[in-house]
Order: sequence, then C-alpha cells, then structure tokens
Amino acid sequence: MATIIDGKKCAEKILDDIKNRVSNLTQKPGLSVILVGCDPASSVYVKNKEKKALETGFNSSVYKLPENITKEELLALIEKLNKDDTVDGILLQLPLPKHLNPSDFLDKIDPKKDVDGFHPVNSGKLLNNEKPYAISCTPKGIIRLLESYNIQIEGKNAVVIGRSNIVGKPVSMLLLNKNATVTIAHSKTKNLSEITKKADIIISATGRANMVTSDMVKEGAAVIDVGIIRGNDGKLKGDVDFNSVKDVAGFITPVPGGVGPMTIAMLMENTLELHLLNKENQR
Ligand code: GUN
Repeated sequence: MATIIDGKKCAEKILDDIKNRVSNLTQKPGLSVILVGCDPASSVYVKNKEKKALETGFNSSVYKLPENITKEELLALIEKLNKDDTVDGILLQLPLPKHLNPSDFLDKIDPKKDVDGFHPVNSGKLLNNEKPYAISCTPKGIIRLLESYNIQIEGKNAVVIGRSNIVGKPVSMLLLNKNATVTIAHSKTKNLSEITKKADIIISATGRANMVTSDMVKEGAAVIDVGIIRGNDGKLKGDVDFNSVKDVAGFITPVPGGVGPMTIAMLMENTLELHLLNKENQR
C-alpha cells in the first residue's frame, strides 16, 4: 500500500510560513487575477485563488471580463496592471474564449509580474536551466511534493503524460534540470504502458479519468495525479485509478487533496517572491 502524499497538509505549512512573512512586511503583496467569460471550473479556481490570497494577507483583485471582450481591451488592462506599483503578480486565467489567442496576452505580461511563469522569458529561463522570475505553479508544486517526501529525482526515470504548456512541458524541464531521465508521453504516444512500467516517477496531466491503471505502474513508483475531473456523481477525480494504483505504487497523490492545494500555495509563494523582487528593484 502506497504512502498517500498529503498535498493539503504540505500546502498549509507553506501558506502558514508565507502568512508569517507577510505579516512582517510594511507593504502587502498584490495579486491581480483576470477571468474572461464564465467557464464554471475557471470561476471556481479564481474564487479559490482570491480567497487564499486574502487569507494570506495579500491585496487581491479579480477582474471579471465579459466573454466577448476585444483583444485591445484585454491588452489595455494588462498594460494598466503592468504599470501599477501595487500589483506584484498578474494571472490571466486559462483557457480563454476561442477568439482570443493566449500567447497574444501572456507575452505582454511583465515577466517580473508573471506569477504563472508562462511568459517566454520565464519559460525560456526554465529551458536554459536559469532561475525564472517565477516557475509555473503546478509544476513547482509537484517538485515540492516529491522533495517533501524525499522522493529521489536525480538519475530516476520520470514519465510525464501530457505536453501542455501549463503542466507537461514545464514539469518535464524541472525534472530534467534536476537530472531525471525524462520521457514526455502524449495522445499520439504508442505503447504507453510499456513506457510507464519503466518509470520511477509518473506524472499524469491529461484530464482523462483512468488514464493510469495499476498494470501500467512499476512496484514502488511515485504516481502524481494532476487531473481534476468532475464525475457524473459530482465528485472530483483524477487521471489515476487511485484504488488499484495505490496497491502497486510507493507514493500516490489523491484527488482532491494532492496537487491542487500545492498549485495555490505556489501561486502565493510566487506572488510574495515577485513582491520582494519588485520592491528590491525600486530601492
Ligand atoms: N488554468 C488551469 N491551470 C492554470 C494555471 O495554473 N494558470 C492559469 N493562468 N490558468 C490555468
């Protein structure tokens, strides 16, 4: 039976520490979140981010924009936030409505306010194994979880299932920078289970229920589930068939209570770090 990785507990510890550090600051870190349209899942995520930012002692503002907003209007808001000294972090919630191309906007956020680490300057730094101003929250949270449970990365075989810009690619780079041997699998990958069976670490970020089953997992492997899927019964589940995989894996993250809370904790950590960086630069 695998050790269940407690992301909630790990996140709470990190958030308590951030709260303490923030209480000693003269100026509060400021996080601005932009939500375009009313995608139900995104609305819940944004509400949670705002709630956690306020609990942590940050200034938090949420800009809820209509679905039919123009490119120019959204760019104007980003420009305004880039210039606002009280704003340390800007997060543009994805996905955007179909008529808007994410990179047109993500590329315009000041890299030093890019709490998501999605700007090409930050993703490029990650690729070059340099320190980005911010590292994408979910990938950073995954690495922090592995480290918290003393799961060795260096020299290990890591398989990442999913090649998104939000999770798959950045977490692959982080693992590579920590000297894992990394395989990125995706929807066109052949013989997935032959690949995953050799993995010491499996990270699944596909959003497809039961993507990872027990016959795909090597005994003792660490299995990190990034999927969040709302089942027909209304309950949240992940990519991994938790009940069977837990009997084979050495470590496993639950959904909910695994990666999700760490994403929010890393968002708060990134906001604080950018605040300290930006205030440092103003002195
Ligand atoms: N949508 C799903 N995950 C994320 C994330 O980490 N950041 C942003 N901006 N949008 C998301």
